[in-house]
Amino acid sequence: MLHDPNHLYIFDTTLRDGEQVPGCQLTTSEKIDIAKDLELLGVDIIEAGFPVSSPGDFQSVVELSKAVDNVIICALTRANKNDIDVAADALKYAKRPRIHTGIGSSDMHIQYKFNSTREEILERAVAAVKHAKSYVEDVEFYAEDAGRADLAYLAKMVEAVIAAGATVVNIPDTNGYCLPDQYGAKIKYLKENVKNIDEAIISAHCHNDLGLATANSIAAVQNGARQVECTINGIGERAGNTSLEEVAMIMQVHANQFPGLSSSINSKMFTHISRKVSSMMRMPVQPNKAIVGKNAFAHSSGIHQDGFLKHRENYEIIRPEDVGLAEADIILTARSGRHALKHHLERLGYQLDKDNLAVIYEKFLIMADAKKDINDEDLHTLLK
Ligand code: KIV
Ligand code: ZN
Repeated sequence: MLHDPNHLYIFDTTLRDGEQVPGCQLTTSEKIDIAKDLELLGVDIIEAGFPVSSPGDFQSVVELSKAVDNVIICALTRANKNDIDVAADALKYAKRPRIHTGIGSSDMHIQYKFNSTREEILERAVAAVKHAKSYVEDVEFYAEDAGRADLAYLAKMVEAVIAAGATVVNIPDTNGYCLPDQYGAKIKYLKENVKNIDEAIISAHCHNDLGLATANSIAAVQNGARQVECTINGIGERAGNTSLEEVAMIMQVHANQFPGLSSSINSKMFTHISRKVSSMMRMPVQPNKAIVGKNAFAHSSGIHQDGFLKHRENYEIIRPEDVGLAEADIILTARSGRHALKHHLERLGYQLDKDNLAVIYEKFLIMADAKKDINDEDLHTLLK
């Protein structure tokens, strides 16, 4: 498969790793609704499900394959013949199908999950890729728990699966274990030591158990990964997966750190898609979540509000309109200064001179101490 070395492929797994979260299950029509938005958002790959896991998941992959035209539709399997046969069947209507197969790569998984040996696991990995390849051209291999795998063994496995036909090699930090420099070094090692590595795309798949999923994914990109696996709102197993919106905005804000590299993401859709996924999956977004949290563009302390009103870039590294929000929020609380109060009063049509503003400000502070935050109605009351 030919890939563009200057493109960062965004692989969305909201509908697979995200949907595994208890309470987040979606109906097939909800999945289609989200998938169509993901297509508009500009993701390159949608992981639609794990077809062998249930008839419902199988059907969702079938329906998503029919509904989506321009994005690769991917189905997850374990490294066995039956899973792969079922996934290939579920993908039969996909215009651009991908099978994502794999097996554990750490000694922990090899010993305690598979009760096996490194040699046997390697053979199973190669056999799975070859079998998937008999159905589709595009085969992604995941080396589960690569974050804790022995590096030389991981390199051997990656080389073998690429030789067997894998087009993408996924290096999951399944348990969110690595530090960014460790995960970045792993990718660098594979780049430098796997002789056929340029025949495949390296993919980062990070979990957030230590709050490092985004940092680790970025470290992977800095060291040669060209696909990032992520979810809307960072939803996913346990503490979640890498958050798609965080990766995209880091790439945008720090574009000069990634010369010549770009993705197709339209960040203006973030607020809309984040709210849709949150409500359909019944999973609230924490208010202080980067990019899409309710407070991500809300300025509340007096010092910040004053600086923001003098020049928004004093306290704004991303413009809210770039993520689909109408404007930043200046929240009126007892920590707000006169400048913020004046701004809100002018917005409501009140022009006050300095002395009158000082009087109203005193009243405002008393009200704000009692009421915590102040809305437009409260301001009208103050002026009466
Ligand atoms: O975290 C993980 O290792 C996974 C694989 C199945 C890709 O989700
Ligand atoms: Zn995962």
